Order: sequence, then structure tokens, then C-alpha cells
Amino acid sequence: MAKKGEMVYPRGYEPSIKDVKAAETRQSLLNVILGDHSQEISEDLDTDLFEVMKRRRSTRKFDEKPVEDWKVDKILAAADTAPTAGNFQGFEIFYIKNEKLKQKLVEAANKQPYVNSPIVLVYCKNPSRVKLQFPVRMLKKFAIQDATLAAAYSQLAATALGLSTIWIGMINEKKVAEIIGTDLVPSSILCIGYPVKRKHPKPRRNLSELIHVLE
Ligand SMILES: Cc1cc2nc3c(=O)[nH]c(=O)nc-3n(C[C@H](O)[C@H](O)[C@H](O)COP(=O)(O)O)c2cc1C
Repeated sequence: MAKKGEMVYPRGYEPSIKDVKAAETRQSLLNVILGDHSQEISEDLDTDLFEVMKRRRSTRKFDEKPVEDWKVDKILAAADTAPTAGNFQGFEIFYIKNEKLKQKLVEAANKQPYVNSPIVLVYCKNPSRVKLQFPVRMLKKFAIQDATLAAAYSQLAATALGLSTIWIGMINEKKVAEIIGTDLVPSSILCIGYPVKRKHPKPRRNLSELIHVLE
């Protein structure tokens, strides 16, 4: 049982920040991870949100170059800053390091080979965390929105860090849950790494098809 104020990390993951003692609460840990702009970090970091949005492109070919631990810290921390229904944080993240499991996830994702990428994060819904007095179907709806937003925050953070991603929605939820050993329902897989090639943004539809103004 954790003592009050004691940081508890999941098995297999501890943030790579040097001064963990400075972070006595979860919030201060988040602040340390997200606020660390030391020189090594600044070189790789794009802090202009709109540039990041402009630059983000899906990647299905990843370089073998490993992703630095501090980047993973920021990607995970970014997910934790996303808004959630009632702040109940109705989602969980599975960080898949095991190569055999990554390979199995390829099978569970309609054999999409790029799922076997340097960093694989599976975002799952956890409606049981959402302690709001609403019907279960509403709590499930909140949980999918929570999990989706969290993955989107991670995706943008990864882009800001010079990485590329592919969002995998084409999954067999039951198979993915079995592979990662959870009762939770997976919502998406975010695959992250250095791209082999940086691509230009894809075109989008006309604004008239996107925006509907009600005056
Ligand atoms: C909900 C959702 C599901 C997706 N599922 C897959 C998928 O299973 N496989 C895949 O290769 N890309 C998938 N994508 C990526 C989209 O194909 C991609 O975002 C889209 O073509 C736009 O390209 P861009 O991300 O480069 O702007 C998915 C994206 C979203 C948002």
C-alpha cells in the first residue's frame, strides 16, 4: 500500500526525469515532465501548437531509430492532461514493450504490419471510473470520448517531439483485450516512431462541407 505522498509507478515504467524527488504529487510530476525544456529537449521540440497541427501526418513506415524515454514521458503525460468527463479519467493506457505482443497486435489489427512500431500505446475505455449518476450507456459514451481525446493529445505531443504516428481504429477489440490481458475495451492503438520520410499534409474538404452556421 502506498504511503501518502509516495509516487507509485506501474511495473515496467518509471519516468526518465532525473529529479523525481522534486515531484511529490502526480500533478507536480506532470508539471516537471511537461515543463522540462532543457537544452537537449528544446532542440527537438516544436512548441507552436499550430505548426504542430499543420505538420502532423500519419506515418506507416517507421525508422528503426529508437524513441528517447523522455519523449515517451511527454507523450504519456500529454494524455493525462486531456479533459475527461467529470475529471473521472475514464480511460487507461497500455504501453506495449513486448515484441511478441506487438506482433500479435498486428494480427488483431487486420494484419496492419506498421502496428509493430517502436512505441505502441493501446488506449482503453474504463467507464467504471466515471462516477456520475447517468445510465451505463452514457458512461460508456464518456469513456470512449475520454480515451479518444487522450490518444489525440498523445498524437499531437508526439508530433511536437519530431515523431510521427499512425492511429489504428481498425481493431478487433476482443482480440486486442485478450492480447494485452485486460477486461477493458480497447478504443484505439497509437503507433509512434521516427518516420522514414516526412510527408506533406493531406488535403481536406471545402469549408462549406465542414462548417454549418446557424444564425
Ligand atoms: C478513428 C480513426 C481510425 C483510423 N484507423 C486507421 C487504421 O486502422 N489504419 C490506418 O492505417 N490508419 C487509420 N487511421 C488514420 C487515417 O487513415 C488518417 O488519419 C487519415 O487518412 C488522414 O491522414 P493524416 O492523418 O495524414 O492527416 C485512422 C484514423 C482515425 C482518426
